[in-house]
Amino acid sequence: MSFGDDFVWGAATASYQIEGAADIDGKGASVWDTFAHTEGKVWSGHTGDVACDHYHRYKEDVALMKQIGLAAYRFSISWPRVIPEGTGAVNEKGLAFYDKLVDELLAAGIEPYVTLFHWDYPQALYDRGGWLNPESSDWFAQYARVIVEKLSDRVANWITLNEPQCFVYFGHSTGVHAPGDQLEFDKVLLATHNALLAHGKSVQIIRAESKSSCRVGFAPCGINSNPHIETDADIAAARAATFAVTSKDLFEHTAWWTDPVMLGEYPADGVELFGSDMPTIADGDMEIISQPLDFFGANIYATQEVRADGDSWAVVDYPDGHPVTGHNLFVTPKSLYWAPKFFYERYNKPIIITENGLSNKDWIALDGAVHDPQRIDFTTRYLSQLKRAAEDGVDIGGYFHWSLMDNFEWAAGYRERFGLIYVDYPTGKRTPKDSARWYAEVIRTNGAEIPSC
Ligand code: GCO
Repeated sequence: MSFGDDFVWGAATASYQIEGAADIDGKGASVWDTFAHTEGKVWSGHTGDVACDHYHRYKEDVALMKQIGLAAYRFSISWPRVIPEGTGAVNEKGLAFYDKLVDELLAAGIEPYVTLFHWDYPQALYDRGGWLNPESSDWFAQYARVIVEKLSDRVANWITLNEPQCFVYFGHSTGVHAPGDQLEFDKVLLATHNALLAHGKSVQIIRAESKSSCRVGFAPCGINSNPHIETDADIAAARAATFAVTSKDLFEHTAWWTDPVMLGEYPADGVELFGSDMPTIADGDMEIISQPLDFFGANIYATQEVRADGDSWAVVDYPDGHPVTGHNLFVTPKSLYWAPKFFYERYNKPIIITENGLSNKDWIALDGAVHDPQRIDFTTRYLSQLKRAAEDGVDIGGYFHWSLMDNFEWAAGYRERFGLIYVDYPTGKRTPKDSARWYAEVIRTNGAEIPSC
């Protein structure tokens, strides 16, 4: 067994990171527009005002995707481009952009995977309380309805929220992401609950109103754990560490976000730990949040290692000099074995890797090409662990490389290059990297050359 015949090979992006066109054709502001324009928030004062100018260059980008042979493309929709005030009037020009993009993709034989929300929250709604407002999940449901009405005759695959861990926790607790708040913990938990309700309500809308058959998932991330040594004891320790909630650092505690969605309950250890900070959970909330999904999307980059330590576990530091990516994340290929395996055991849904990749210090060489052997090596190593998971019976539906092209890496601005395609920001010129040609071959051969391990 290897990757199945229906395995989906794709690449991913997000609206604010690539589109640019920040205030044209009637687009409203998002919290990321505001944040990036606030001094000191983004490295070197970078903003997404122009980014990759994908808004104007999408045809060229789809042609490049076709050249790579992508079967699928995961992109997100900018809520304030479509509904500038977040609720109410629809901006037809903004909606038309996604309509044209979907048509262009389908004409190229590329399956669209639409993410409804990848962090560019309407500023107007933030000004009305944002995720703390009790109406916030209904605002999201209304927005979802507009998108489903327009695109669901052609779009079958939907992802509701991208990484609620980040936009809630980094945006509202540590403040390193937009909107940059540092709220009391009870407020952070309230924002979490409302975001999860928004997820559930949008699943209901997609199912009820889709014009064609649909598949729905979401795309959480988190710090998962690999066993230090693959013994029964360390594996059990890694599984326990992956799902335990042991502190208020919600980014680290995957199950806080995934158990409510997949199992219909907040993890009991977290509920006990958070005590009176817990929000009021109304009758029916958990049913809304845990609408059945068709797949579990997982954004997986770097993972910690743990070993058994009595009845508990201990984190094992990587040795000095352990490989890191451009972004200083540890290179941990086994993340694509253990995390999918643990998620599949616990949630029993097909897994789609909705993001995996690395930033690298790429530039255009004297020969005019972009040589990125680290990206090829990194992805080979990770894919070979994913293959191992598939061979061990984990139902893996697909893999989306992050990212199709270099883009605006949030608080790191344009410092980090995550793309298969190099973007020269001053001119917008695209140059497929060596890894793009390599990935094309992986796709063409359905991963046959990826070594088994
Ligand atoms: C995330 C986001 C992406 C990032 C990528 C690289 O995981 O933070 O989904 O938008 O750009 O992960 O950090």
